[in-house]
Amino acid sequence: MILGIETSCDETAAAVVENGTKVRSNVVASQVEIHARYGGIVPEVASRQHVLEILPTVETALTEAEVKLEELAAIAVTSGPGLAGSLLVGVNVAKALAFSLDVPLLGINHLEGHIYATWLDSRSGIGGIMEREHQQSPEYEPGFPLLCLIASGGHTDVVLMQDHGVYKVLGRTRDDAAGEAFDKAARILGLGFPGGPQVQNLAVGSKGLERLPRAWLKGTVDFSFSGVKTALLHRAQEIGIYPSDNGEQDELKKELASAFQESVVEVLVSKTLNAASEWQAKGILLGGGVTANVRLRDEMVHRSKLPVLLPPPVLCTDNGAMIASCGFFHLQRGKHSSLDLDVNPALSLQD
Ligand code: KG4
Ligand code: ZN
Repeated sequence: MILGIETSCDETAAAVVENGTKVRSNVVASQVEIHARYGGIVPEVASRQHVLEILPTVETALTEAEVKLEELAAIAVTSGPGLAGSLLVGVNVAKALAFSLDVPLLGINHLEGHIYATWLDSRSGIGGIMEREHQQSPEYEPGFPLLCLIASGGHTDVVLMQDHGVYKVLGRTRDDAAGEAFDKAARILGLGFPGGPQVQNLAVGSKGLERLPRAWLKGTVDFSFSGVKTALLHRAQEIGIYPSDNGEQDELKKELASAFQESVVEVLVSKTLNAASEWQAKGILLGGGVTANVRLRDEMVHRSKLPVLLPPPVLCTDNGAMIASCGFFHLQRGKHSSLDLDVNPALSLQD
């Protein structure tokens, strides 16, 4: 039974996971409403909010799991990458708990956590682990290597997972992360924060009348999303879209939201599939907030000949369960952190 704590960005999250797979509880205190009024995350506000939320969140996670502190085998916590002030809150609480309970402390890379959301079991009650499209049995696993696409508000990385804990970063975004681009697109269209779900919802029912460019960066597994964002801005100005309008322009906005989403999705899917075939991957794994996107999920499953491992949307966005699961696999390999664990806002997957 491992407690997972996640405070790298704007969600205060804690969860209890049994044997690395069974989610006993998964509590997320979202700060979305607080940051929405600024149109994006304000780091100082985020860390102060984490201080207020962290203990009640941990307590709720234990209560919902019906687990006592003394029953915990280890404490896993995100130590990077992320916002320094936010990471510090989770790491300090985790250290205090690990020290007082005399159990191992497991410092976890947030991106590795997103990968492990796929190991969480749907049968534990938070709805469908993986829509494993080519799944033959609940225990079915395609084996390694897996080609992972981690797309969130801060990262868009393509990673080859050669084994548990063994990663090769093949490519990444050169400018905006995919989620950041969705958030900026939403702002251009006058939608709320976070932008991904809003763009997705608005795009439903589009007639496909607009098209925006794709940046292929051929010969690499890198991405660039700043061009499509600027193209969206120019097109919106050209046809006279105003963020503050009262809904009169809904049809135009719908077409632009869809064009933007299609551009991002096509590039993410095509480049991920190409990399999977180049590296002879046995499966594709998706993680991170953007992989909650319905169009991205559908398109990846539809176009991939390989099994696609997809966490349910609720586990794509930041949560403590994925951190606890990742911690379990660290512990199995005899890996843990010392009590002088520090935050590392720029922590990399491959060191
Ligand atoms: O992984 P995450 O919760 O936090 C980070 O580690 O950044 O990802 C948050 C990002 C936001 O940019 C949000 O707009 C995006 O994920 N996102 C989506 C969707 N749901 C969340 N993007 C596209 N479609 C979605 N349905
Ligand atoms: Zn994340």
